[in-house]
Amino acid sequence: GLSPATLRHIPPTSETIQTKPFPIRGERANYVNSPHVIAMVGLPARGKTYISKKLSRYLNWIGINTKVFNLGEYRRHVTDAYKSHEFFRPDNQQAMAIRTKCCIDALNDVCSWLESGGEVAVFDATNSTSDRRVLIHDIVVKKMGFKLFFVESVCDDPQIVEQNIMEVKVNSPDYTNMPKDMALNDFLLRIEHYKEKYEPLEEDTEAHLSFMKIYNTGEKVLVHKHEGHIQSRIVYYLMNIHIVPRTIYIARHGESKHNLEGRIGGDSELSERGQIFADALAKYIQEQNISGLRVWTSWLKRTIQTVARIPAPQERWKALNEIDAGICEEMTYEEIKSKYPDDFTARDQAKFTYRYPRGESYEDLVARLEPVIMELERQGNVLVVSHQAVIRCLLAYLLDKSADELPYLHVPLHTIIKLTPVAYGCKVDYIPFEIGAVDTHRPKPKAAGQLNGHHITA
Ligand code: F6P
Repeated sequence: GLSPATLRHIPPTSETIQTKPFPIRGERANYVNSPHVIAMVGLPARGKTYISKKLSRYLNWIGINTKVFNLGEYRRHVTDAYKSHEFFRPDNQQAMAIRTKCCIDALNDVCSWLESGGEVAVFDATNSTSDRRVLIHDIVVKKMGFKLFFVESVCDDPQIVEQNIMEVKVNSPDYTNMPKDMALNDFLLRIEHYKEKYEPLEEDTEAHLSFMKIYNTGEKVLVHKHEGHIQSRIVYYLMNIHIVPRTIYIARHGESKHNLEGRIGGDSELSERGQIFADALAKYIQEQNISGLRVWTSWLKRTIQTVARIPAPQERWKALNEIDAGICEEMTYEEIKSKYPDDFTARDQAKFTYRYPRGESYEDLVARLEPVIMELERQGNVLVVSHQAVIRCLLAYLLDKSADELPYLHVPLHTIIKLTPVAYGCKVDYIPFEIGAVDTHRPKPKAAGQLNGHHITA
């Protein structure tokens, strides 16, 4: 066989040259060649919607165009017939007909969305019988030729189930105007109706299907016949998430000497005001008395100096270093504009994908930050002290912001951003410190050729 060294020296032939200049589906570095349907499985209140939304947020962040299709919303759209759990009795034929029709409608929408450029559709429903899964397989695999992966959430801890019901289900549109304890009871009866017909995925009876099972929010994971890269990434991601309450604190380093001069990048020290912020931050963190807090910084002096007085275990991540501005490092925006005018405009036109010559783009940053996000998911309370561009990427993941919004997110100096997981997302609080600092935010300039929002045509 060919050794890796020989392989590297094979001259490009028409076979080794990539003939596709650009991915056909996603336009970002990550893309999937064949559309995927991720179909959830499990009794009500097993965290299926939580997993769906979280998975979709992650996949979109790494550049894979993903959308959740929630069957409950389809049902509420076609009928207001929901009066009580009776609707979900397996012998309620009228309701059953409505439910099957909704399922087919939703699957049709899934398929047309995937045909028009979508990459991963998450089908968020109970899909709790093998008949239902046959129906999904027939449409998704046999008819459309897409990939299908089932994700089953199994949970037998009544406390987790009840917590889920009280946190999200009792506020569902099904229960407007119903007292919470009545809603809880009704929902528990609804689960009982599903249990009568529930068939968990089994390796022997549904051997041909690709699936994973998650037991008790991640205590154990089983993977059966997964197919390829994207499914392995989904398994990897879902193995790392947890639902234990915790808080993530994010802050930029204190104002640096380069910040004062308007210079980007570099590895300068804190300014006097930056040092005052470092002291105030240490005081604030100590007052909060946060259990098991871990502190993460980049490898750059300004973040390390910012956390110097915080008495908590610290870790340095090179991946948390600021965006590498390549040939523009340590210049001011004005200097870049006069020395490299074309680059300066190019960056304004597509800030997310623009890569500094010999440096990085925001898209590169997202890829470099993926291990940080994975580890962040595993952790309890963490304080991350990093830099403007890096924090924008982290916030985009945590707050579900698009690649267009990402490079313009506001991350002021001397401000703590406090993120607390709630229901399906994160609650965010900005805690500004009254310590002056320069403003390093450069807004998107009005596009050339645009005046007052109107396009000028020749
Ligand atoms: O100005 C501070 C800084 O952190 C620079 O080091 C970095 O290049 C810049 O912000 C990133 O912000 P933007 O992408 O808006 O230029």
